[in-house]
Amino acid sequence: MSTNQTIDDQKRAAAEAALEYVKPGMRLGLGTGSTAEHFVRALAPRAVNLNLTVVATSERTAALARELGMKVSDLNDVRHLDVTVDGADEVGPGLVLIKGGGGALLREKIVAAASDRMVVIADAAKVVETLGRFPLPVEIVPFAWRVTAERIAEAAARCGCGQNLMRLRGGEAHPFTTDSGNYVADCAADAIPDPERLARMLEAIPGVVDHGLFIALASVALIGTPSGVKTLDLPRRMAG
Ligand code: A5P
Repeated sequence: MSTNQTIDDQKRAAAEAALEYVKPGMRLGLGTGSTAEHFVRALAPRAVNLNLTVVATSERTAALARELGMKVSDLNDVRHLDVTVDGADEVGPGLVLIKGGGGALLREKIVAAASDRMVVIADAAKVVETLGRFPLPVEIVPFAWRVTAERIAEAAARCGCGQNLMRLRGGEAHPFTTDSGNYVADCAADAIPDPERLARMLEAIPGVVDHGLFIALASVALIGTPSGVKTLDLPRRMAG
């Protein structure tokens, strides 16, 4: 394989490898972001023959899937999914993820949690030893967002994160708004030594809707690398 692959080539290769996990008649969750978009584009020509039921993790993905001829169902009707294929901003040890760079973390987590398997697709740069270089997205309600952001920063400090710089996505004048009408506060933590502890602390803050730490949700990660797609599986005892 050529070594002058671009990051986008790696994303596309990982996305195409995920087609292996799609079987006829499946109920499938479609992720959000540029890697997930490659997957949706690769899947679309096969979707009708495979008789798939698909659910999207964002309005953006739903629009793309419809544009490509797929019928997008409501998770309220489908209830349970076989597989969700989604990207990630970071893939850490134990397949703990940071997600939400595209602002869709809440729906992504709801869809992943409703799935038997979450297949992560990403380029090689996303794989890290310690999570946190990518600012952790936290979806918060607009009311008193500054107070909530301060409490997030306190939680990051108490969890021993490298730093805890908060930024309202989009800026105060034009805050980014999620599909569910919330804001996103990005926490530049530099390093998150204990993601489980930080997740618990964030979940206890009123005003936090959800955070981009995905713990015990992913079951496999397909990583596009210059030498082909590598599969990261959970160690047997964690996979259960
Ligand atoms: C969307 O909210 C995110 O969780 C994406 O899955 C993540 O940002 C990965 O995006 P790319 O595939 O564009 O790198």
